[in-house]
Amino acid sequence: MLRVRLQIRHRREVFQLLECELAPLPSRHPQKPVLDEMNVKQPLPDRLIIERRWMRLKGSPVFGVGPLLVRIDFVEIGVHRFLHCSRESTLARGQFVSSITAYNKPFVSLESSSYGESHPTRISTRAPHVTAWHRQGKSIIHLEIGEPDFDTPANVVEAGVDALHKGWTHYGPSAGLPELRQALAEYVSRTRGVKVAADEVVVVPGGKPIIFFTILALIDEGDEVIYPNPGFPIYESMIHYVGGTAVPIHLKEERDFSLDVNELAALIKDRTRLIILNSPQNPTGGILERRDIEQIAKVIGDRNIMVLSDEIYSRLLFDGGQHFSIMSVPGMQERTILLDGFSKTYAMTGWRMGYGVMRPDLAAHMTRLMTNSNSCTASFTQVAGIEAIRGDQSSVDHMRDEFQRRRDVFVAGLNQIKGFSCRMPKGAFYAFPNITKTGWKSKPLADALLEQAGVAALSGTAFGEFGEGYLRFSVANSLENLQLALDRIDQWTKQNL
Ligand SMILES: Cc1ncc(COP(=O)(O)O)c(C=O)c1O
Repeated sequence: MLRVRLQIRHRREVFQLLECELAPLPSRHPQKPVLDEMNVKQPLPDRLIIERRWMRLKGSPVFGVGPLLVRIDFVEIGVHRFLHCSRESTLARGQFVSSITAYNKPFVSLESSSYGESHPTRISTRAPHVTAWHRQGKSIIHLEIGEPDFDTPANVVEAGVDALHKGWTHYGPSAGLPELRQALAEYVSRTRGVKVAADEVVVVPGGKPIIFFTILALIDEGDEVIYPNPGFPIYESMIHYVGGTAVPIHLKEERDFSLDVNELAALIKDRTRLIILNSPQNPTGGILERRDIEQIAKVIGDRNIMVLSDEIYSRLLFDGGQHFSIMSVPGMQERTILLDGFSKTYAMTGWRMGYGVMRPDLAAHMTRLMTNSNSCTASFTQVAGIEAIRGDQSSVDHMRDEFQRRRDVFVAGLNQIKGFSCRMPKGAFYAFPNITKTGWKSKPLADALLEQAGVAALSGTAFGEFGEGYLRFSVANSLENLQLALDRIDQWTKQNL
């Protein structure tokens, strides 16, 4: 019988447990008991690896329920000590244990592991604190992560599994499966009120490659790119990477983080090649209204400037808001590269699938970039994508309504906390409170909340220089955890401000 100490994560919460036993399953289970085979000796070896087995976890006090049936994907004891488990039989619906970490010794620091000797890993100064926090058995509420906490809708998962069984496991066309490109062309035509053909759609592994490929395809050294700041950090880093000049446009709180068109006009120069728009916006939750976008198009006029319109949160608008794309403005379609994807809308971040819509000559160029980099997006993922885009959309509405509910509670709560003030975000799933009245800078405050209050958020400066004075919290977590996070931050401010 292997006795281990377990740490169980439920969604993003870590619950520390005391000693538990891992026992073989009864023989009626199709998998063989693992410990019999392992002939575990005492003391346990420094590294013990158990892979992909089913086991019963005895006496687990997780959430006050009885024994768990867990599937162990991988355990390493002594170095990494990861023990992932998926699916169990006894938890109530809606509760799901996503992973377990098991260890039979106190944590060793990475520096003392044999892996680190020749090429020591440089770890951020924050990491040891997190470990210490975890070691003390304290939980961290993770509000720093930018992905839905929901699982991919069941119909989409089933389509993906079915596709795997049917052999969608081979290379496909670089630009995407024709049926998916057609489905996306129809979807974009319908939602943006423009005529889009399948050869104007390029399917790529996630939304990010469209940012990468657009900048790679359009920007030469010295070309200027105007981009939102605070904004998704990948824009700026990609512009720098290709030797372009990154020209930030400051998104201001007093404008609800929409951009100032006059300021944009002043930033446009002869060398401006590309303007990046993002609505709904990460990290602020701001949106560009139809009239903003029409004015932006007017300011661009008939200049040969391309627009990368990042609309990855287009289905996450609150209070009945309607998304409007610059692609819909007459005369702008041929100068717009529309980025959208499946990650946020269908909670498919790990599947890696997104797409760009652009005129055919540019689509052909992006397809060449795909051929030279990824070859194609995973075929079974794309088959699931067809189901996502054409199938039942109720889960999309459900997730949006749920994010709105959480946003309402969380933003109201933040506004009660000393030194915090937060505008109501109109889309995406982030809150971006102003924290200047705390007297703290963003990064030290984010670090302090993590280390002393057990709440993880991102510093606004992770999104560019104009993010100073703000923190970004994701509301993609349960209401219960959001409330707990508010309580902890409140308590922390009462003790420290
Ligand atoms: C504004 C924005 N664009 C693009 C992406 C990339 O999405 P994906 O995970 O599909 O690459 C993200 C992800 O966080 C995002 O926030």
